[in-house]
Amino acid sequence: MNWRGTKMLPLILLSHIALSFAIPAPLCDVNKIGITDGFYTVTDGGHVGSVVEYTCPEGTYPYPVHARECFPNGQWTEDNVEAKCKDNSGHKIGGGIRVEKDGLMNIFIVIDTSKRIGPRNFKTAKDISEVFIEKMASFDIVPRYAVISYASYVKPIVRLSEYESTDAEKVIERIKKFKYSEHDDKQGKNTRGALMEVHRMMSLEYVRNDTEFMKTRNIILLMTDGRHNMGGDPTVEIKRIRELLDIRKNNNREEFLDIYVFGLGDDISHAEIFDIASKKDPARHVFKMRSIDDMKEVFDHILVDSEILQTCGLAREPDEEHELQEQFPWIAKISIIRRSSEEKCKGSIVSRDFVLTAAHCFHLDEELHSIDIRVGENRFKVKTLYRHPKYKPLGKLDKKVDKSFDYDLALIQLDRKIEFSRTIRPICLPCTSGTSWALKKNRDTMTCSDHEKTLLPSDEEKAMFVAEERSRSLEWKDVLIKRGDKRRSCLEATKKIDKFKDIPDIKDLITDNFLCTGGTEPEVDPPTCKGDAGGPLIVKYKQRFIQVGVISWGPINSCVGPKRGRDPVSPLSRDFHTDLFHMVDWLKEKVPELEFLA
Ligand SMILES: *[C@@H]1O[C@H](CO)[C@@H](O)[C@H](O)[C@H]1NC(C)=O
Repeated sequence: MNWRGTKMLPLILLSHIALSFAIPAPLCDVNKIGITDGFYTVTDGGHVGSVVEYTCPEGTYPYPVHARECFPNGQWTEDNVEAKCKDNSGHKIGGGIRVEKDGLMNIFIVIDTSKRIGPRNFKTAKDISEVFIEKMASFDIVPRYAVISYASYVKPIVRLSEYESTDAEKVIERIKKFKYSEHDDKQGKNTRGALMEVHRMMSLEYVRNDTEFMKTRNIILLMTDGRHNMGGDPTVEIKRIRELLDIRKNNNREEFLDIYVFGLGDDISHAEIFDIASKKDPARHVFKMRSIDDMKEVFDHILVDSEILQTCGLAREPDEEHELQEQFPWIAKISIIRRSSEEKCKGSIVSRDFVLTAAHCFHLDEELHSIDIRVGENRFKVKTLYRHPKYKPLGKLDKKVDKSFDYDLALIQLDRKIEFSRTIRPICLPCTSGTSWALKKNRDTMTCSDHEKTLLPSDEEKAMFVAEERSRSLEWKDVLIKRGDKRRSCLEATKKIDKFKDIPDIKDLITDNFLCTGGTEPEVDPPTCKGDAGGPLIVKYKQRFIQVGVISWGPINSCVGPKRGRDPVSPLSRDFHTDLFHMVDWLKEKVPELEFLA
């Protein structure tokens, strides 16, 4: 790629003026940049400023150098060390953002607004900040933010000491409002000045409460192209910040500071940004950002997984690269193998020990060893099967209900603990502390009914379930939960169906314990099919997934096996789901570790 066109030339000549004019600039030797087992790209054929970037095969990473730059003296940065691809195992132990529940964290977002960055990269920096803050907000922590913009001068946009600094939405709003034009003098790039401001804000925190400050992790996210031109060496400020945080060799305080540098633009000083960034091999702290799409890769590298894994209701956004299972990490597939048939159901992972599903999936005298549970690639057996004690399929014969699904809920205790990973993790259940965290609102005072009001605020609420049309291929289906007045049509439609006509009170069949989806109004909802039963009905709140129901039954079968029929959905079709808000007492008794709200 020839990114250094003629337009850029005057700038480069300016920065290396002495060498460029006095003698022809020497070339760096392109035969000396190989990497053992890996690949590299080199821009500009070894001329001064030429950049080498290393890539390694899956499961490995470049070490000890990620990239090199050709210096005016004709030498590559770190040309005395050989680049190799190193095994990834154990990666991320050294550094990365450790998200601990309730952990204290300061995040400093430092944006280069100089002329050299240009409005397009400035916009990218703002987008990156927004995505970053939203991502952090999806975890169970409440970081304190500071946002600093700089060119010749430094301009704090959000101060760490402000009341709003813990309000992610407000911080994003203020970043959005901040304009490129707000710095008058853009010629300068005072990176040291910006880091000095970070140090100043940290010092204020230290003075406010030193005990607390010393327990707080600090993340600095610097977005620049490097190449400061005033204020002096930025690394001097890094040393001061490290001193303030009392980070010394061998005192195990490195984890309290991570400095990430996101390189923006086509003309990045790799030498400078590598100097500023934390060095915690093998964890990466330098990223070249071409666009906002690069954030996915960044998060893959910088978030320390193990701590996040027990956070409920997280999943990857669908994209081509990631395995299907990462989009549905809480789905369990249940199969019951009987003498002459196999029955399939779904379930949801709610803790390391338990899968939640529907009671009707199992015969009352089911042999436990005939039940097989698959979670990702792992298979489990049942230790104990708990059905809701009020689930009595034949309990309403006197009300002319042939088969009652009321309290259609079961918990499977697995024969061993589930090990959580990127592809296997729990979903959030209503009225648990996990959901309070996910909703991020008045966490300490939230009640169960606050959860319900937040998750199901309207009479037609968007929800989704997971369908398996073809074997092993899961997909989302969007439906609307009909509540309040809208729910009445669910009862009326069902009453019109022949086999239910004799039931004097349809509420004996469709009790208040069911959430209703389906039908053709206001939109056609995809119906649930046989193999979907037991699976979760989910409401997505921001980046989090909260299960509100368990797929139970429908009065009309619109499916051929697991396939949604080709025939149009009948206006009388509905789907009923066990409403988890009504099942809290029993869940609390069986899975107390989920910390249900009082
Ligand atoms: C500092 O913060 C800690 C909590 O980390 C708290 O227990 C302590 O009382 C605070 N000290 C002062 C002086 O506010």
